[in-house]
Amino acid sequence: MSSVVVIGTQWGDEGKGKITDFLAEKANVVVRFQGGNNAGHTIVFDNRKFALHLIPSGIFRKDTINILGNGMVINPKALIEELDMLEKGGITEYKLAISDRAHVVLPYHSVLDKLFEDLKNGKKKVGTTNKGIGPAYTDKSSRIGIRICDFIDLEEFRDKLTDNLNYYNKIFKLFGKEEMVIKDIFEEYKEYSKRIRPYVTDTSILLNNQFENNRNVLFEGAQGSLLCLDHGTYPFVTSSSPTAASVSLNTGISPKLIDEILGVTKAYSTRVGSGYFATEFNSEIAEHIRKTGKEYGTTTGRARRIGWLDTVVLRHSKRISGITGLSIMLLDVLTNIETLKICISYKLDGKIIDFIPASIKDVERCEPVYIELPGWEEDITKTSKFGDLPINAQKYLDKISELTGIEIVMFSVGPDRKQTIVLKQMYI
Ligand code: IMP
Repeated sequence: MSSVVVIGTQWGDEGKGKITDFLAEKANVVVRFQGGNNAGHTIVFDNRKFALHLIPSGIFRKDTINILGNGMVINPKALIEELDMLEKGGITEYKLAISDRAHVVLPYHSVLDKLFEDLKNGKKKVGTTNKGIGPAYTDKSSRIGIRICDFIDLEEFRDKLTDNLNYYNKIFKLFGKEEMVIKDIFEEYKEYSKRIRPYVTDTSILLNNQFENNRNVLFEGAQGSLLCLDHGTYPFVTSSSPTAASVSLNTGISPKLIDEILGVTKAYSTRVGSGYFATEFNSEIAEHIRKTGKEYGTTTGRARRIGWLDTVVLRHSKRISGITGLSIMLLDVLTNIETLKICISYKLDGKIIDFIPASIKDVERCEPVYIELPGWEEDITKTSKFGDLPINAQKYLDKISELTGIEIVMFSVGPDRKQTIVLKQMYI
């Protein structure tokens, strides 16, 4: 038995989906523990491409149990659309379990998301995905959230929906927004409630049973560590915690059950939405990276901001999650760049620092300190082992490992499952 947590070490979109899909082959259980359909993974195999937002990557293997944990916020309509999309793609046999304690995202959450963003001016906008994630977690903290167990009990659902919309409609009216009709939402969503009911269960019990039976468990983080509500670049963060510590609370298992924590990073950096991004740059090289890496959001289609790899960020993520191995993604995207830069520290008010300050004012004044490494021109997309990489690509990977103090256990040279090279068989 072994368990591994896969987490993003940057601002999300690191390629975690590919790694979880890859590791899912040996996993008996794959678990999502936070976030909602703000996330997006693209999984490519056998010339087929699937975009997943809520459903764990184990869904493509018929014997793997896929769990949506209690820490998630689930949009039932999006979930059903995703199941329909899978079925259309020929994925008809799967095992899915939805936590009865997860919270439900309803149409008023996305309206609130947009409203709160619109009320913020210019630089203060977070640039959310507008999927209602923040408002759904706000309801959870305010103890007015609707959980999956309430959602599948239609009386309870109607009652809670009525209370919440009576309240939110007052806010909509105040800001000149159209009020929402309780009956319409109830009639539409009661059908979704019926469809998801067969999958709903106490997933903490299910998961603990799997551990007792010595099964391999894979925890699939969404977003990245720098978007963590506590340890990210607040307030430009999401509303959950995409860290290893989040797993236990958000799935109902003991933290002692986690064996390994695999950090996933791109060979460079990207970010969508607003907020600090010390190594961001705009140039022909950035455009080349954006095009080659197809750096457009899976969920929103937004062009991602591009930056050099930032090892202050990686060390921060290592510290807060205890990362035991690193997976470097999209190395092939850096081919044909003459000189590569890696950020090794920041300069703040003339002083060299090796941490991300808490205050956003300080963070915004941090200047990256770089080292430069020569790039490579050879096509690396067919590489099957480390030694086959051009020497400069090998040196680039070695430097990342040296600067972060984390062993590189995998790297990826293309979107297909086959283009993932494992250096150390340390996970399940
Ligand atoms: P929210 O999660 O929709 O509230 O958005 C908050 C911030 O997190 C915004 O900057 C989003 O762009 C970012 N974000 C949320 N989910 C993802 C993701 O899966 N990948 C990358 N960025 C994300």
